[in-house]
Amino acid sequence: MKNPLYSNDIAFELDQKRQDESRQGEVLVIDAPEDFISNGKSYYIESYGCQMNFNDSEIVASVLASKGYKNIQTHESADVILLNTCSIRDKAEQTIRARLAQLNKIKKTNPGTVVGILGCMAERLKEQLLVQEHLVDIVAGPDAYRSLPDLIEEATGGQKAVNVLLSREETYGDINPVRLASNGVSAFISIMRGCDNMCAFCVVPFTRGRERSRDYRSILQEAQDLYNRGFKEVTLLGQNVDSYRFSYDPTLLGKKLIEKKDTDEVVNFANLLELVAQVAPDLRVRFSTSHPKDMLDDVLHVIAKYDNVCNYIHLPVQSGSSSCLERMNRTYNREWYIDRIDAIKRIIPDCGLSTDIITGFCGETEEEHRETISLMEYAQYDMCYMFAYSERPGTLAAKRFKDDVPEEVKKRRLQEVVDLHRKHSLESNLRDIGKRQTILIEGVSKKSSEQVYGRNDANKVVIIDKGNHKKGDYVKVIVTDCTSGTLIGEMIKD
Ligand code: SAH
Ligand code: SF4
Ligand code: F3S
Repeated sequence: MKNPLYSNDIAFELDQKRQDESRQGEVLVIDAPEDFISNGKSYYIESYGCQMNFNDSEIVASVLASKGYKNIQTHESADVILLNTCSIRDKAEQTIRARLAQLNKIKKTNPGTVVGILGCMAERLKEQLLVQEHLVDIVAGPDAYRSLPDLIEEATGGQKAVNVLLSREETYGDINPVRLASNGVSAFISIMRGCDNMCAFCVVPFTRGRERSRDYRSILQEAQDLYNRGFKEVTLLGQNVDSYRFSYDPTLLGKKLIEKKDTDEVVNFANLLELVAQVAPDLRVRFSTSHPKDMLDDVLHVIAKYDNVCNYIHLPVQSGSSSCLERMNRTYNREWYIDRIDAIKRIIPDCGLSTDIITGFCGETEEEHRETISLMEYAQYDMCYMFAYSERPGTLAAKRFKDDVPEEVKKRRLQEVVDLHRKHSLESNLRDIGKRQTILIEGVSKKSSEQVYGRNDANKVVIIDKGNHKKGDYVKVIVTDCTSGTLIGEMIKD
């Protein structure tokens, strides 16, 4: 479903794919693993939400394949229908409810079908969708996917099947995700789960539980394995990658260890990024999401040091006003955030920068909104994901504050932010004209089969003539033209 706030430009379309609500109900194409032995049952899965949720669907696919469930792409004939869901804003949940109502019609013609809800909405609502609303047969939260085959068995036998236990340890580190809907070029690797921050607006700590970091050796193994299979880009995923911290000795984890000499005992995010960068010089490395309070210079120096670590940082600001940030419990202020931007521009000149902004958070005054506008002017973001505040039950904001900014004011402020961002992204793209860049080809352009698209280091989409280029090629280009969402380029010889 398209977000009307964005243009139809391919870059926006593609970049929306990063974002939670914009990825709604995608059906994932799953190849059975080589050693697959069927149990005669099939399942269909639709995924919603952020990249991490999509990556979780790949883990679910792996768990189900190991028990002989065959993936199919039509829900009508599936024995099991699964929706992996998102709760980040009310609209995301409404979309899933509408979809569940549709799917339940199928049960009328095929009563044996088992319908399951997975992910954040399952965790948030727990038994409610099963016991009170009778919309599903299975409810499985994000840490319960190993038990999914058992839950399916129970539900097939007519029992209620619920597992919403959150874990302090589960990282699915030993599960090799089945790559879904993959272009064969870039893949996601979850490096951690959960979130220990308590941003006042955010439901994630409640749906995903406590933060835990995955063993770095299994991350390196996964990156190496992907590279061996021909992948050219990995994106390391976490709600707050900068607080990644792994140790064999858990008693060391509480300590603030950021010195390189401590890497024998503790691997922090800067160390991990460096280790992944060393897997292969032609394996591009990206990561998301950075948190302004935790992103220190050590990470920036690793990005600057390695050519294959992309010069692109997604650094969500949420608001440009210190007083609003305090109510949001973001634990940094405007000055701190500006200092981080200055550090990025100093250490990694030409670094692509993107952000998330919420308009109309509780108590947001016109003056606070203007501070967000002025921060955008300062940062000149290349990409920006913008949302009107949506109150989530149970969050700090829902308990502490009134959702008191009228809907039309939220929307008007959102529109101002969107308009300003569009101006900035056009200016940023115009500055790229005449520059030489290396792009990694991801596929054929949606608009013309004679063109292919790829991304440059700073994560911008560049379209070039198809020529002999194929997915996974690195191509040197010169940027010749642009729109506000896309760069147009031509291949150049060295
Ligand atoms: N972990 C990331 C963000 C995860 S959610 C971070 O810390 O930045 C993605 C984005 O959704 C957030 O950055 C925020 O801008 C937006 N968001 C989260 N909760 C929201 C809410 N209740 N209403 C509107 N937007 C919200
Ligand atoms: Fe939510 Fe904040 Fe955690 Fe991001 S850092 S997932 S916004 S609580
Ligand atoms: Fe949505 Fe859960 Fe991701 S709420 S944004 S799917 S962590």
